[in-house]
Parts: sequence; C-alpha cells; structure tokens
Amino acid sequence: MKLVSVAIDGPVGAGKSTIARTAAKRLGFVYCDTGALYRAVGLYCLRSGTDMGDSSAIAARLPEITVEIRLVDGVQRVFLNGSDVSEEIRLPEVSMAASTVSAVPEVRAALLDLQRGIAEKNNVIMDGRDIGTVVLPNADVKIFLTAKPEIRAKRRYDELVSKGMEVVFEDVLEDLQKRDYNDSHRAAAPLKQAEDAVLADTSELDFEQSVELVCGIIQNQNSNKT
Ligand code: DC
Repeated sequence: MKLVSVAIDGPVGAGKSTIARTAAKRLGFVYCDTGALYRAVGLYCLRSGTDMGDSSAIAARLPEITVEIRLVDGVQRVFLNGSDVSEEIRLPEVSMAASTVSAVPEVRAALLDLQRGIAEKNNVIMDGRDIGTVVLPNADVKIFLTAKPEIRAKRRYDELVSKGMEVVFEDVLEDLQKRDYNDSHRAAAPLKQAEDAVLADTSELDFEQSVELVCGIIQNQNSNKT
C-alpha cells in the first residue's frame, strides 16, 4: 500500500503541533514534530556555550550532535546524544535558540534525511516550517495552518501558564513576532506557504473545530489523489 504523507506548515503558535497530533491519532498516522529537532540542536548549543551570533560556530557543533526520534507508544520522543530531552526542549530560551540554529543551512541539511526517513516508512503527518516546500515537496496533502498573531500569542501564553511557567503576555507576543520574522526572512528554507498548500486559518475556530478542519482537508485532498 502506498504511504500517505501530510505536510503541515505555519507560524509559531498556530496550534500546529496539538492539532496535528490529534488529527494523526484520529486518522491512525504517525505524528512528527520537526520543530523538536531544531530545538534539540538549539539546546545542545546553549548547553555547550556556543556563540549564538556566529553561524559557523553553530555549524561546527554538528559533528558532536546526534538527534534521534523514537516512537514510544506512538508518541514522538526526541533524544539528544542518547538522552531524552523531550521536555527540556520546550523551555522558552530553547525556542529562541531553535529559531537561531534553524537559520543555519548546515543545520537544516543535517536534519533533512532524518525527516524524510520517517515519511518513507510511515503514514505521517509532519509539521514544521518547510515541510511542504523543502522536506516533502511531493507530500500527498499540504496544509498551511495559521491564525492572527495576538491569538497565537494568547494560546502560547495559556499553554506556558498551564505548565506552571511564569510568563508575561507582552513578552510572549514579542517573542512570537521576533520568531515569525526570523523564520520567514531567513535565506535558508524560509517559512512560506507552498503553492499547492491549502490555507487553514484557525483564528475563529476552537480546538475541536480546528482538528475537524484539518482532518477534513486531509481526507478530501487525499481522496482526490487516489
Ligand atoms: O515549531 P517550533 O516552535 O517547535 O519550532 C522551533 C523553531 O524551529 C522555529 O523557530 C523554527 C524552526 N523550525 C524550522 O525552521 N523548520 C521546521 N521544519 C521546524 C521548525
């Protein structure tokens, strides 16, 4: 049977990961969160005191880094040099480090095969910034998931607060706008909607409606192809 690949791209806080994870569960697909890979590289650079303003210093770290994705009960865990860092990579300081390292072409190249390998072996919903444009240009279904910046910041703020983190809304919004800018203005694989992607704006939708929208697009687009 031919494997099905779904690419979901979009800016920070559009709800990609929670929506994609839930949609994957409902449709029986593996879910792959590619941002976690950039976060693992960012975490390593922070831990090793790498100068984050120097892209060649970041690239020079790559031979010291092994990032792996393991599926534990169908849930993705991310390992950095053999240790599970799935929780640590969610810290706000790691978010900015991930955005910085993701602009380094050598980092993107180093993570490409890992991402493609997952789609070669599984029915997958993969989310990120360049999945439909670079990683899986032949994906069966492409979705560009977005929402207004203030709404995305509010969702991210609520998520961090629910995890017990002390954060200020204005800081979350500023951080999000900075990352939006970085992610869409970098030279290497910038965030942009693939020409053949379906635009899904969740600004006015609650979580369940967003999942239904995404599942509907996947079923609809995929049945058009078979
Ligand atoms: O989705 P996220 O917030 O976990 O992603 C962290 C950073 O990684 C984000 O600022 C952009 C980058 N990223 C990327 O450049 N390409 C991807 N496919 C996924 C994430």
